[in-house]
Amino acid sequence: MKFDRPATQNPIDRLKVVGQPLDRIDGPLKTTGTAPYAYEHHDVVADAAYGWTIGAGIAIGRITRMDLAEAERAPGVIAIVTADNAGLLGKGDHNTVRLLGGPDVQHYHQAVALVIAESFEQARAAAGLVKIDYAAEPGVFDLTAAKGSAIAPEPNELTGPVDTRIGDFAAAFAEAPVTLDATYTTPDHSHAMMEPHATLAAWEGDRLTVWTSNQMIAWATADLAKTLGIAPENVRVVSPFIGGGFGGKLFLRADVLLAALGARAARRPVKVALQRPLIANNTTHRPATIQRIRIGARRDGTITAIGHESWSGDQPGGGLETAVSQTRLLYAGANRMTAMRLAELHLPEGNAMRAPGEAPGMMALEIAMDEVAEKLEIDPVEFRIINDTSVDPENPERPFSARALAECLRQGAERFGWNRRDPRPGRTRDGRWLIGMGVAAAFRNNLLITSGARVRLDGTGQVTVETDMTDIGTGSYTIIAQTAAEMMGVPVERVTVRLGDSDFPVSAGSGGQFGANNSTAGVYAACVKLREEIARRLGFNSEAAEFENGEVRSGNRAMPIAAAAAEGDIVAEDKIEYGDLSERYQQSTFGGHFVEVGVDIATGEARIRRMLAVCAAGRILNPKSARSQVIGAMTMGAGAALMEELAVDTRRGFFVNHDLAGYEVPVHADIPHQDVIFVDETDPMSSPMKAKGVGELGICGVAAAVANAVYNATGVRVRDYPITLDKYL
Ligand code: MOS
Repeated sequence: MKFDRPATQNPIDRLKVVGQPLDRIDGPLKTTGTAPYAYEHHDVVADAAYGWTIGAGIAIGRITRMDLAEAERAPGVIAIVTADNAGLLGKGDHNTVRLLGGPDVQHYHQAVALVIAESFEQARAAAGLVKIDYAAEPGVFDLTAAKGSAIAPEPNELTGPVDTRIGDFAAAFAEAPVTLDATYTTPDHSHAMMEPHATLAAWEGDRLTVWTSNQMIAWATADLAKTLGIAPENVRVVSPFIGGGFGGKLFLRADVLLAALGARAARRPVKVALQRPLIANNTTHRPATIQRIRIGARRDGTITAIGHESWSGDQPGGGLETAVSQTRLLYAGANRMTAMRLAELHLPEGNAMRAPGEAPGMMALEIAMDEVAEKLEIDPVEFRIINDTSVDPENPERPFSARALAECLRQGAERFGWNRRDPRPGRTRDGRWLIGMGVAAAFRNNLLITSGARVRLDGTGQVTVETDMTDIGTGSYTIIAQTAAEMMGVPVERVTVRLGDSDFPVSAGSGGQFGANNSTAGVYAACVKLREEIARRLGFNSEAAEFENGEVRSGNRAMPIAAAAAEGDIVAEDKIEYGDLSERYQQSTFGGHFVEVGVDIATGEARIRRMLAVCAAGRILNPKSARSQVIGAMTMGAGAALMEELAVDTRRGFFVNHDLAGYEVPVHADIPHQDVIFVDETDPMSSPMKAKGVGELGICGVAAAVANAVYNATGVRVRDYPITLDKYL
């Protein structure tokens, strides 16, 4: 189905099932421990051997000797996979560095061996007997030091242009009566998902099946085939349940490749879960950024010049953290410049994490906005509204499909009691706590991506949806069931949803908050076809036919839809395709984040007291799962503000705090009170669902709102995340 003009009225608009706050249909499976995760598919594979991954002990250099003899003789050991015996391996399109290193080593904890044994304990014990000598080489590990040699990389589809220039930024900035020129830094972040990267692999002749934990099934399938040098049709990837991804499971990772190689070497199924202490350095992370922001404004609050430059680093061949993307779209201003530069670093591979680009970009931009508002003596909510725009500021021909930024900020201010905030910092006390309130805009793009699905009706009236869409804890199963139920006019219990299997039609997958709108739109398209076929078989005019209460009806005539499948299942498959729709309209999601903090007057410890997010993200398909997405994202924003940081050992080139004890994330006690409001919005340009993404909107801006609240509490402006108490000094 081609969707390239504004949506008209359609069956989803009935909102009998879609838009309702249904509990997750996969909830009971998860709370009873019966949802099988990658490492747990005992139901299909009973005799798996266990793999233990060995990560390189240097950041860059060569393995000069690897002695496996003692390990091979250890009890229970079946095989040891290394680059020496793995055969010729390729590299997937979405990977920057090789997933199995050796003899040359590209980053610390790059996998260099997999020890396979009868038991997990035997594999672990034997791994301790593998002796590896290295010749380390000097590498570059410090972004600050490497910044000077950063270059403008080739632009690509994901990063957009590297530089943009509108008007005369330098002249406008020089003339502006009020200016800010400040530099902000964000650290490397780790996804820190609950479920480690894990895979169970089994070969049947030339055919490989992997049960894994992956957000993007089609990418994983293609990349695994390419890496192994086998035909994609001989690879099946299955990932029905995922214990958190956050971008860390967008791409094929070492566990998948090692399990596949291990199963081939052991001649039996093998399972591999990356050990927790390996994950931070073996897998990807969000790269640190250095961001310089310059804003010039007139006394009335109008921005006349806005400039944002960002530096990040990655492995040779890697990509940018696109921290300036939101600055190209969020505020008006006639004279503009943005630039992104990439330094070559030999730290582990950087890549997407929790709203890549906008999340760290908003961490800087939205402090800068607070700083300018203060210089102007204009309320920071008002300052943002003054600079609102209804068109793409870099391309005024292109309107936003919907843009409720001002409404979100106004509603949020009202609901949060913003008028109780004293704009003078350090004036509000509650016992030993200095109290502050902060605001930030929320902004995240909405991407339109082709997405397919297959729906089947059987003779009992049960509808089954199959798509390779994944549910990373987001609620995909539920909103897809709601969509099919609405379209087919059946209760949600009459819909079975099967996800995360490369045997199913290719969907948008889970990432970039594009999953919900696109995957349900793909299901919508397949359901339109199924409705047509049912109508045809039962002799209804499909234009006039209505589907309700398990029946298709038109005028006085009604028949159960199950009757259409009396002779055998009816199967319909389709995908949603958007043409150039997202070039004609800028599609984004907007919001306002409000935070109140207390800062201990003696210790400087900052505690969040309450948070509010107001979100405009098109139609909300399920307010309960959407709210859960947003409060989770707000929690991640709080982590980014106050605690999350991978500490770089700049001599040896690795992340030191590589486990959940050293890499701090918020716990319940850190987040006392959260509120989420969805403003009433349907976006007819986003898809027939009229929905957009909302999950990542929830994180973009939060950290700056916390930072601005800390400033309001203390009068100390911290521009270097995370805001730990040493930084007030
Ligand atoms: Mo998200 S970082 O695109 O999984």
